[in-house]
Amino acid sequence: MTDLRNRFSPKVFDKSVIEETNVTSIMEAASWAPSAYNEQPWLFHIALRQDEQAFSSFVKVLTESNQEWAQNASALVFSVARRERKRDGLKNDYAFYDTGQAVAHMTIAALQRDIQIHQMQGFVAADCRRLLALPSGFDPVTAIAIGRPAEGQVVDMPHRVRKENAEVFVIHRGD
Ligand SMILES: Cc1cc2nc3c(=O)[nH]c(=O)nc-3n(C[C@H](O)[C@H](O)[C@H](O)COP(=O)(O)O)c2cc1C
Repeated sequence: MTDLRNRFSPKVFDKSVIEETNVTSIMEAASWAPSAYNEQPWLFHIALRQDEQAFSSFVKVLTESNQEWAQNASALVFSVARRERKRDGLKNDYAFYDTGQAVAHMTIAALQRDIQIHQMQGFVAADCRRLLALPSGFDPVTAIAIGRPAEGQVVDMPHRVRKENAEVFVIHRGD
């Protein structure tokens, strides 16, 4: 079974090329995430390292501090959420939630292949919109770096502190 304690967000990737089929298997895991009304409001735009032009156009959309390390990833992805429900055109209040959950599925599928995913809020949304030609009603949510951690990048890095269980969940009990 996949041990989720081995998932982490590396800051140093090994710059290796990951086959397109390997990346698409990770992306397919997103499809199997649950979503409100099964709307599947997510859409992922991908640039592979082996396609230098596409990859560098994605890197440029990231903030400078994220560019420094994310340029060494094997693939860059922008997750996009559709804000309106297809079924009735109403606002989908769960679009971002569902999109995040789809990405969580991807992180697990990646982990099963010894690949890690590092998500980012640090990108310029307007530049992202322009690059992807996003129509209105679609919002970029996160940038995502996919790759293999470089040597020395280990799961137990000092900043990976976690809250105590008591701060995370409460069990309600009857009298
Ligand atoms: C929505 C989201 C946005 C994030 N944005 C950034 C970012 O812009 N730059 C960065 O270096 N890490 C970013 N992170 C990574 C977090 O800092 C990281 O997940 C957190 O420190 C926990 O570490 P871990 O993923 O290794 O467990 C982001 C993570 C998420 C889920």
